[in-house]
Amino acid sequence: MKDLAAQLAEACSAVFVGRGFDAKWGAVKKSDRPELADFQCNGCMGAAKQAGENARELAASLAEDLAGNELIARVDVAGPGFLNIVVRDDALANQLECIRQDPKHGGGQAADPETVIIDFGGPNVAKPMHVGHIRSAVIGDTLVRLMRFLGDRVIGDVHLGDWGLQMGLLIVAVMEEQPSLPYFDAAYDGPLPEQPPVNMDDLSRLYPAASQRAKDDDAYAQRARGAVARMQAGDVGYRALLKHFIDVSVAALKTDYAFLDVSFDFWKGESDVDHLIQPLVSDLQARGLARLDDGAWIIDVARDSDKKDMPPVILVNSRGATGYHATDIATIVERQETLAPDRILYVVDQRQAFHFEQVFRACDKAAIFPEAQLEHIGFGTVNGTDGKPFKTREGGTLRLSDLNALALAEAEKKIGEANLSGDIGPDERADIAALVARASLRFADLKNQRTTNYMFELEKFSSFEGKTGPYLLYAVVRLKALLKRAAAAGAVAGSVKIVEPSERKLVLALDGFSLALSLAREKRMPHYLCEHIYTVAQSFSAFYGALPIVRESDTDIRAARLALCEAVLLQLETGLELLGITAPDRM
Ligand code: ARG
Repeated sequence: MKDLAAQLAEACSAVFVGRGFDAKWGAVKKSDRPELADFQCNGCMGAAKQAGENARELAASLAEDLAGNELIARVDVAGPGFLNIVVRDDALANQLECIRQDPKHGGGQAADPETVIIDFGGPNVAKPMHVGHIRSAVIGDTLVRLMRFLGDRVIGDVHLGDWGLQMGLLIVAVMEEQPSLPYFDAAYDGPLPEQPPVNMDDLSRLYPAASQRAKDDDAYAQRARGAVARMQAGDVGYRALLKHFIDVSVAALKTDYAFLDVSFDFWKGESDVDHLIQPLVSDLQARGLARLDDGAWIIDVARDSDKKDMPPVILVNSRGATGYHATDIATIVERQETLAPDRILYVVDQRQAFHFEQVFRACDKAAIFPEAQLEHIGFGTVNGTDGKPFKTREGGTLRLSDLNALALAEAEKKIGEANLSGDIGPDERADIAALVARASLRFADLKNQRTTNYMFELEKFSSFEGKTGPYLLYAVVRLKALLKRAAAAGAVAGSVKIVEPSERKLVLALDGFSLALSLAREKRMPHYLCEHIYTVAQSFSAFYGALPIVRESDTDIRAARLALCEAVLLQLETGLELLGITAPDRM
């Protein structure tokens, strides 16, 4: 189905063409002055200028041509030649009926669907996730959902950080605590234990200590780097340990992500492309794209047009180890070979923009993957009330599990204040709190234009009032209750009729769904969808406050309003699901 703006654009284009102008002038958008009109077409000024005609006169004649169109109640010419369009009530009713019947409830479809890999999450084994990783998880997961909804073939990959120095630090730390383990005995050739020698608590205890120690103890840092080199060279014991570390971390990560309803198709990591690195390096050497510089193999990626200094990509460092550049390039090789995507999106902190620029240029230069189809989807930082990147009270980075726990506690508090209906038992209450916490965190993040920074204010995020996730849940729950009351009273939805201003506004709001989604997809910015859902919820509140629904005595009007409510519920739930937010049945 097409939204009204698209249908009106067809009508406007036709009248432009009818008077000998290009169809492009017929573009229509929502009116900037909703008190005057529903939509506007601004093409007359450009068209008239090109033809050396008077814009107002052209607009007046086009307004005449449009009169009688089945969608249009009135066209006014305003200012230098704007066409202000008011839509007929029955056209709105018809549009609402289409939204209600449409399997996507007005969400639309991408005209150019692609195969897209979205690389997001990016947690590091053993290292605690910081708020940046959480943003990546929420934004990436939302992009997966909405692009898939619009028809793209999307593959989400967590791209675990499991190849760098943190692995060496862990190996050395475990060796120190449990030196007799067979992983460290080069002479041992029996079977290695299946059970991991450490659990998640051990990892969270060992890693920060080792990382701290490496800062002032050079010999220790040296040993950790040696362990990385040995692991990368394929030492069987070290590789087995690596696998244990990954398995233990992944299990914990899955639990934490589940709280936010974030999921991945692939749980691959940097270490999965190890086998591709040597062939990649040889190939780039053979083709003269990599050169030896001070013992390291590098790829020059600077360009004459560069305004900033662009250092080379480090393929293999002078100690023979491969790092972040090499694993990212090799991963692109692997993705290209296995999935042949049209595009790869990297949902990663804005501060890594430089890294991706280097990697993308190197891939383009080596004809591995075109730069134009590699996109860094950067995002801003989450700040504390002091305006600096958010830290815990103790000054550390916030773990995802702690963040979840904090949000849950806040949700429980808010629910306590909100006076839930008396017959809700403790289990249902706990489920509701979890849904409220998830809605709070996800919406608070997604509603911001992703490149901006925002302030972490849990109290505000969890409020049932304002532009928050819980406010949206509340709108859905209220709708569900209303429809239940109607059903109990034997009232059924019937054919739609639009009469009242608040009904018009609500239908016009619903009609914006496909534009919001296509903007969110095109710009990779979920806030367009948040904005839309919030507008629908607000328009619904206004309608609900202004007009009787179940209590309406005229059964036709009541049936029409119930149909409107049904459409709102369907679209709100669809939209929220794309944001990864689920509403409870009641609260
Ligand atoms: N593990 C990285 C970090 O913590 C993020 C990974 C992002 N994805 C990528 N393909 N580089 O900074």
